[in-house]
Amino acid sequence: MILIRRFKPGDFAGVIEIEHEQFSEHDPYLYMSLYELNMNTFFVAEDRGAVVGFVAGITAVGEYGVYGRVFSIAVREAYHGLGVGTQLMKGVIAAFHQKKIMNITLEVRSHNLGAVRFYQRLGFAVTGMEYGYYTDGEDAIIMRHR
Ligand SMILES: CC(C)(COP(=O)(O)OP(=O)(O)OC[C@H]1O[C@@H](n2cnc3c(N)ncnc32)[C@H](O)[C@@H]1OP(=O)(O)O)[C@@H](O)C(=O)NCCC(=O)NCCS
Repeated sequence: MILIRRFKPGDFAGVIEIEHEQFSEHDPYLYMSLYELNMNTFFVAEDRGAVVGFVAGITAVGEYGVYGRVFSIAVREAYHGLGVGTQLMKGVIAAFHQKKIMNITLEVRSHNLGAVRFYQRLGFAVTGMEYGYYTDGEDAIIMRHR
């Protein structure tokens, strides 16, 4: 039974492990500072006491005011395809809506078309590209929740 709940500091090691398994591109300690500023939009998926996925949503201010950004989402490989990512995304979208933040965006690597489809099913649409966005030069596809 998978439980979706807010991140707490004790989950830090579990989140970092999944981050390493799935991307290894963010500074681990970044997650702790993200949490401190965005407690209401940081969720984990737990199975029998172990963290098996997470989503870190952040609130930012841009040209058009306050918006939500899905900074990062990952689910442990062994749990892929079981609906955990969908539940995490639904949780973070609902949390932004609760904060009256309706404008939610995210970036995804241009090769990751599986993830693009995953986000489309959750109501995101492609709104643009950011060329050379990632440190290794890969382009980002920009998506926005409708
Ligand atoms: C993207 C991710 C979080 C989805 O989590 P999940 O728990 O597997 O998601 P769900 O089970 O709710 O949904 C999976 C669906 O999305 C599709 N999907 C998601 N990512 C995919 C990918 N990279 N390639 C192919 N399909 C993908 C699956 O095929 C599946 O479709 P189906 O329901 O028709 O079978 C997970 O694949 C992951 O951690 N990927 C690595 C990190 C990553 O790419 N993060 C997103 C970019 S920041």
